Amino acid sequence: MKTIIEPFRIKTVEPINFTDRQQRQQILAKAGYNLFRIKAREVIIDLLTDSGTSAMSSEQWAAIMRGDESYAGCESFYRLQEKVRQIFGFRELIPVHQGRAAERLMFTRLVKEGDLVPSNTHFDTTRANIEVRGACAVDLPCQEASDLQSAYPFKGNIDLEAVEKFLQEHGKERIPLGMLVVSNNACAGQPASLANISAYSRLLKEHNIKFYLDAARFAENCYMIKEHEPGQAGRPVRAIAADIFRQADGCLMSAKKDGLVNMGGFIAINDGALAEELRQSLILTEGFPTYGGLSGRDLEAMAVGLEEVLSENYLRYRRAAADYLARGLQAHDIPIVTPAGLHAVYIDATAMLPHLKAGELPGQALACALYLEGGIRACEIGRVMFGEAALSPDGGTARHDLVRLALPRRVYSQSHYDYVIEAAANVYKRREQVAGLRITEQPAALRHFTARFEPLPVAPSAGVPRTVSASPSP
Ligand SMILES: Cc1ncc(COP(=O)(O)O)c(C=O)c1O
Repeated sequence: MKTIIEPFRIKTVEPINFTDRQQRQQILAKAGYNLFRIKAREVIIDLLTDSGTSAMSSEQWAAIMRGDESYAGCESFYRLQEKVRQIFGFRELIPVHQGRAAERLMFTRLVKEGDLVPSNTHFDTTRANIEVRGACAVDLPCQEASDLQSAYPFKGNIDLEAVEKFLQEHGKERIPLGMLVVSNNACAGQPASLANISAYSRLLKEHNIKFYLDAARFAENCYMIKEHEPGQAGRPVRAIAADIFRQADGCLMSAKKDGLVNMGGFIAINDGALAEELRQSLILTEGFPTYGGLSGRDLEAMAVGLEEVLSENYLRYRRAAADYLARGLQAHDIPIVTPAGLHAVYIDATAMLPHLKAGELPGQALACALYLEGGIRACEIGRVMFGEAALSPDGGTARHDLVRLALPRRVYSQSHYDYVIEAAANVYKRREQVAGLRITEQPAALRHFTARFEPLPVAPSAGVPRTVSASPSP
C-alpha cells in the first residue's frame, strides 16, 4: 500500500472550541497581538509548539499506573535509567522537569563569565541560560542554512571550518563545552548529519573540549539521517541514534518533544564525578536525584515514550504528516523552508509579505493573520524571538523572519491540516492587506513570551487588526 496512515487508533477525544473571526479580532487585540497570551480554548488548531503537546499512548497511560512515588530510590527511576542507557548509551541519568532545567544545572556548573559556547544554533532557552552566566552563546550554522529554499538535506549542520577557526582562536580556556542541537529547531528543524556530528566531535576532542548534544528531537534527526545520508538508508533509527550519541560526552534532553510526554527531561552523561555535582545542585531546586522534579509516573511515561518514538512506523507517519502540510502550502505558492523537517513546517514570512519592512515584524504579523483567519496558533521564529542582535548578517537562519507551524505528535489528522492549508491560502490571497506590528512592551529577555504589540497604521483594509473582512470562517 502506498497510503501512509496514522499508526494508531483514537481512544479519547478532546473537543475543539470554535470561535468566529470577529471574536478572534477582539481576542487578538486583548492579547496585545501576542499569541502566547491567548487562552488555549480560544484556539482552533494549536500549532504553537510541538513541546509537551503530544498525545500519550495507551501503553504510556498504563505505565503511569505503575509509577513508584517513593521519595528516594523509586523503581520508576531505575526503569527510566535502564531505557536511557539502552538508547542513549550514557551511564548517569539526572532527571529534571524540562529541558531548560537541564540547561541551567549544566551551565551553572560548567560555564563562567567570559566563556564562549559554540553550537549549530542555540535554542532560545539555551542561549538565555548561557548568557545569564555572563558567557556568550555562539551560533555557527553551516553556510547552506541561509538558503531557505534549497534542497540541501542537512541545513542543521554546524560549519566545521568556522568551528576549526573558532577553536584555534579561543581554545579550551574560553570554551568549556561545545553544543549541537538535533534537529536544529532554531534553524527550521533541519537535521545535522552523522558525518557532521562525528567531525565536530573530533574537532572538540582535539582541543580537549567536552561535547553535549541537545537531543530534544533526536529520533526525528536520526530519521532524516536515514532518509538522506549515504550509507544510512537501510539502518534502524535506533542504531543511528546510538551512533550519534557515541560521538558525545552526554546530552541534555527536553523529553517534551521526542520523549512523547507532556512534561519531563534529563541530563545523561558518562562522567560520574560531574553527575554527582549536578545531583547536589538538583537537590537544591528540582528534587531528590531519583525523581528530579518529576513524579514517578512521569518517569514511567517517559521511559515508554522514548521507546515508542523510535518506531519506524511512527516516524514514517510523522514524515508523511509534515510533507502533507508542506506540499499543501506549496500548492498555494506559500513560501516555506525546504526541505520540511519533521517537527514543523516553517513559512518564510519575509517572502510571503514583501510589502512589510523587517522592522514591521512580518513573522509576528503573519502569525496574527493566521489566527485571525482560522484560529490557528503558530509561532514567530525570527526577530521577535531572537532579538535584533541575532539578525545580524552572521545570525544564521535566525536572520530570517519565519512562522513555525509546529506539529504536536499524534494529535492532529489530515483534515486538520487541510483546514490549516485553506486558512493559510486565504491569507496568502489577501497578503498585501496584512498589517505590520510594532512592539509596545517587552521584557529584558525571552521577549516573545510576554511582549505586547500594536498594529501599524497602514492601508485602510489591512488584514491583521482592525477590519472585519467578509471571508468565511468557522
Ligand atoms: C532544541 C530545544 N532545546 C531546548 C528546549 C527547552 O526545553 P523545555 O521547553 O523542555 O525547557 C527546547 C524547547 O522547545 C528546544 O526546542
